[in-house]
Amino acid sequence: MSAIDIILQRRSIRKYKNEEVSAEVREKIIESGRQAPSAANRQPWHFILVTDSKVKEDLSQSRYRAFIKDASFTVVGINLPYDEISEKWGVVDVTIALQNMVLAAEILGVGSCWIGGFYEAKIKEILHIPNEAKVVALVSFGIPAERPAPRPKKELKEILHYNKW
Ligand SMILES: Cc1cc2nc3c(=O)[nH]c(=O)nc-3n(C[C@H](O)[C@H](O)[C@H](O)COP(=O)(O)O)c2cc1C
Repeated sequence: MSAIDIILQRRSIRKYKNEEVSAEVREKIIESGRQAPSAANRQPWHFILVTDSKVKEDLSQSRYRAFIKDASFTVVGINLPYDEISEKWGVVDVTIALQNMVLAAEILGVGSCWIGGFYEAKIKEILHIPNEAKVVALVSFGIPAERPAPRPKKELKEILHYNKW
């Protein structure tokens, strides 16, 4: 499948096979995040790779992210700003890095799901994340055990403007 088809056919995957993603594939996914663009190349990001089953269980205690326990691994994207630029663009930078991982995973046959349904304080407590850092989002990854139907997307004519609003 071409890269464009992979991007167009991606769906959020919340059901995973009881099968590990290999360390080699996992590293390629993480590396795709590390190579992402960031404002003025500040790279104001940290990632926590969660593979431990107890930690997965602790992160799964909500219906918005119950599937984390079945995922092979989850990446927690964290912004740690250290100057004006990384303060202004940090969340965008981390988001781009996480989406690079999502697309790399898709290319490598690994399904994923973004997770924004969390209380930051709870995630910080579970993962011992310092106060000054911001948890941007979590993304779970695993071998897909479902092929969800496409979600409705807005029509182009609703969202695309030509040359002016
Ligand atoms: C920032 C963000 C936060 C999300 N949070 C959650 C979440 O907490 N739990 C969940 O099951 N899906 C979550 N999703 C997945 C969306 O529900 C999903 O992307 C959307 O319904 C479109 O479906 P698709 O990804 O298959 O195109 C989130 C997606 C994004 C981008």
